[in-house]
Amino acid sequence: MQKIVAANWKMHGTLDSARALVTAIEAHLREGPPERADIVLCPPGVLIRAVQAMLADPCIRLGGQDCHAQAQGAFTGDVSAPMLKEAGCTHVIVGHSERRAHHGETDAQVRAKAEAALSVQLIPIICVGESREERAQGQAAAVVAAQVKACLPAPAPGKPPQQGGCVFAYEPVWAIGTGLTPTPEEIGAMHRNIKDLLPDGTPVLYGGSVKAANAAEIFATAGVDGALVGGASLDVRGFFEIVSRSRPAAV
Ligand code: PGA
Repeated sequence: MQKIVAANWKMHGTLDSARALVTAIEAHLREGPPERADIVLCPPGVLIRAVQAMLADPCIRLGGQDCHAQAQGAFTGDVSAPMLKEAGCTHVIVGHSERRAHHGETDAQVRAKAEAALSVQLIPIICVGESREERAQGQAAAVVAAQVKACLPAPAPGKPPQQGGCVFAYEPVWAIGTGLTPTPEEIGAMHRNIKDLLPDGTPVLYGGSVKAANAAEIFATAGVDGALVGGASLDVRGFFEIVSRSRPAAV
């Protein structure tokens, strides 16, 4: 299966920096071999349409960084899944640990957001991951399993489980933006646990301090279907090197 590399720009970027990044990424991709990861760029909401207009490569897809569970309403500052869809997104990140930490989002809310995304044929990238304390206490597997079960969208009435409809991202909170990562063995074990709880074929990405230097090892780990990349996705060369390492031949 082709790896997925999703770029989470977080609250970074201006029109100018986005243009520079997109132009450079596309130039690198044109020079590289044709087979490559499935790339999903997740810019801040106000830049989505502009980035879409900049993209010449129809294979690069767009994602939102969050969506509300309701399609519309009096929710100042929020963006709904249908709005992201209309803006050109195919994906939306939900349940990122920064949303959980700074906006108090619960698993139930994350699940409702994922269901809202699926209802308009957006692919939710559902983030789960343990804190530093939870790992230190030997709770990582249990915490993540509980999150996966609580965030997994219910199948639509009368429909089979949403096979292929969701993507999960295992993002240990302590690894995000810190330069720390679990060992490949720890990542592999966690991805196995997560996949055991999901419909067959659901991709599970790893996120947390993915960079050019560790990408090959992470992509080569069994059960890792791609990466959710934060900081390194803002650096053209670093991001392109991560994408390059997603090809088995480059490992
Ligand atoms: P990072 O962030 O790559 O900067 O650690 C990943 C994420 O938050 O999705």
